[in-house]
Amino acid sequence: MITSESQIYQLLLGLHLGLSVVVTPLILWFGSPYGKLADSFKVHWSRGNVTINGTLGWVIMETVSLVAYTLCFTPWLGGPVHLNATTLLLAAMWVVHYINRSWVYPLRNPHRSPMHVGVMLSAVFFNVINGYVNGRWVSHFGEYPADAILSWHGLAGLALFVGGLVGNVHSDNILMGIQRSKRQKTQLATKGHDTASQSRYVIPRNGLFEWVSSPHYLCELLEWTGYAIATRSTAAWLFVLFAMANLGPRAIQCHRWYKTHFANYPPARKAIIPYLL
Ligand SMILES: NC(=O)c1ccc[n+]([C@@H]2O[C@H](COP(=O)([O-])OP(=O)(O)OC[C@H]3O[C@@H](n4cnc5c(N)ncnc54)[C@H](OP(=O)(O)O)[C@@H]3O)[C@@H](O)[C@H]2O)c1
Repeated sequence: MITSESQIYQLLLGLHLGLSVVVTPLILWFGSPYGKLADSFKVHWSRGNVTINGTLGWVIMETVSLVAYTLCFTPWLGGPVHLNATTLLLAAMWVVHYINRSWVYPLRNPHRSPMHVGVMLSAVFFNVINGYVNGRWVSHFGEYPADAILSWHGLAGLALFVGGLVGNVHSDNILMGIQRSKRQKTQLATKGHDTASQSRYVIPRNGLFEWVSSPHYLCELLEWTGYAIATRSTAAWLFVLFAMANLGPRAIQCHRWYKTHFANYPPARKAIIPYLL
């Protein structure tokens, strides 16, 4: 019988691990359910076919992660909340990432393809668990002296996190730039000033896209690896595992998608790890 929050916490870590174990075979078997891979997804969502605006769905599902984590820093869940320079800096890493991911990124990129509510709801489910186990560890269950961030793992993790964040935002910016210029050309073409292609996708160029097809995913993985090194927590490493299980297969499928759709796709470009994969 479950009698304490720490038992619930352990159960949620187990569930988190279980989700990582099932997500890779699910994506490899059924495909990925949104964006440019949505058409090849093998599950027929059409029963009900409930889609919502892609930007709205994104804001809702990612905001959950921010809220779940930050709630752990309030007295709301009970027990002591450890506030010092290290726990606040670790929390700041999470909060900065998710303010960008939940609000800045979608509002700067308001042209996402529509999203099935099933995708949004499954992300909400995961983000509640992930936000809670990570936030509650740093704020309550973990023990971090105030100067822990100055240890080798604190500083190395922080540096990797910042590097990953910069690369992730830069790569997202390149894709946003493509979407914006596509949209402008399409509007001009609609007005009869141009004969621009109506195709939504092109080959991304410049930056880390010269090495891999999904540098935003690679850098996202580096970010969370940095966070895990800095926190040295099971919850953070489970998040790295989940991100690898989720983004790795999607990156490989995106790479295949590019090669199938663009005959002139750069042959030396890899899927997610430069020169290797
Ligand atoms: N931590 C995690 O587990 C996790 C999971 C998912 C995403 N993320 C992060 O969230 C961010 C977005 O991820 P995502 O999966 O949505 O990326 P994505 O599928 O590459 O799409 C990003 C945006 O770029 C557009 N786009 C993609 N490829 C394009 C191309 N070749 N030409 C023109 N436009 C293109 C998409 O339009 P469409 O919407 O029309 O496809 C969408 O607006 C990334 O930084 C990623 O790392 C993290």
